[in-house]
Amino acid sequence: MKEIFTKEFRIFFGEDVLEQLAENLIENAYSKVFVLMDENTEKHCWPMLKPYLVDTFPIRIQSGEASKTIQTVQQVWTALQENFADRHALLINLGGGVLSDLGGFAAATYKRGIHFMNIPTTLLAMVDAAVGGKQGIDLDGHKNAVGVFKHPQEIFIYPAFLNTLPDVERRNGFAELSKHGLIKDSDFWLELVKTDEKKAENLDKLIYKSIKIKAAIVSKDPLEEGIRKSLNFGHTIGHAFETHSLIHDEKPLKHGEAVVIGMIAEAWLSKNLGWISEKELHAIKNYFLSRFPKYSAQPDFETLLVYMRNDKKNRNGQINFSLLKKIGKAKIDVNCSEEEIQHAIAFYYS
Ligand SMILES: NC(=O)c1ccc[n+]([C@@H]2O[C@H](COP(=O)([O-])OP(=O)(O)OC[C@H]3O[C@@H](n4cnc5c(N)ncnc54)[C@H](O)[C@@H]3O)[C@@H](O)[C@H]2O)c1
Ligand SMILES: [Zn+2]
Repeated sequence: MKEIFTKEFRIFFGEDVLEQLAENLIENAYSKVFVLMDENTEKHCWPMLKPYLVDTFPIRIQSGEASKTIQTVQQVWTALQENFADRHALLINLGGGVLSDLGGFAAATYKRGIHFMNIPTTLLAMVDAAVGGKQGIDLDGHKNAVGVFKHPQEIFIYPAFLNTLPDVERRNGFAELSKHGLIKDSDFWLELVKTDEKKAENLDKLIYKSIKIKAAIVSKDPLEEGIRKSLNFGHTIGHAFETHSLIHDEKPLKHGEAVVIGMIAEAWLSKNLGWISEKELHAIKNYFLSRFPKYSAQPDFETLLVYMRNDKKNRNGQINFSLLKKIGKAKIDVNCSEEEIQHAIAFYYS
């Protein structure tokens, strides 16, 4: 088992983390242990976790981004209250990013905050959502518009959960994993370029490297006042597409898929500023488009702008980006004009 310990959180990684979880629960003597899951993690992951726990209360919610709302949080609060969860209760979030975002928020606010742990079961949640202490929900379709900063007590990464993950979800996680290379570690990026993610035999190693990058950035800047903003590369334009797609598409873009659109467009902005070369820009585009199908809808630019103006990173009405200063290094707080943004999106579709 590997461990990444920072001042704020502890991550356990490997095949024997569930034994570790069981030990930690005994040491902590929580008054009650609740496990939040959706129908897929209940089917695929809960049977693997259950033998390690005693006397737990399952709470089930429906899978999918559409569940990441205050109504679902209320369901969780009610389930906690009806089962007499006191301030010494624990909530374990067993699932993908939707579960850890929502469960973390519910736990951080119930009785002014109870402890929670994350057991991510998707690639995206392992390398990104479950680590870093950002908990939140969507508001009227606006991504992560309401939330808090609060770290889980502990995070347990058990890669075997990925065995049942559909390919599309695996790819989805690869988007954020790749982002970590682009913004922080050029060697890691080059390793990824050579990797076929469908048969990556070294997936565990890639996951571990990616988590280390995220954990290091988060522990330097837990409240996102500086360097942590670099994790938002691809997310200004990506979130606008994601929001649009959630409202309009029968089968909405997944978070990672939307971030891929954003990373290609924002790589264009980086090239436009002279920070990465034309060749690097095309390498980034080819890398993603050979793994992710192109989004067929073309949302109206003005609508996307409205979503971008609502982005949390903005200040004084300017749309703020985290771009690539070079491969392996980000530059935060960059303003770009509407015309540049339009060009950047056109580059994605070209
Ligand atoms: N808080 C953060 O820092 C942060 C960072 C990145 C993303 N996010 C958020 O994470 C969310 C996306 O997370 P996600 O992609 O994990 O989505 P998700 O939680 O919706 O999971 C994707 C799907 O996989 C299913 N699933 C989960 N584990 C499975 C398993 N082991 N086997 C089979 N099926 C399984 C789920 O039921 C769901 O249908 C978005 O809401 C995004 O905003 C948050
Ligand atoms: Zn993301």
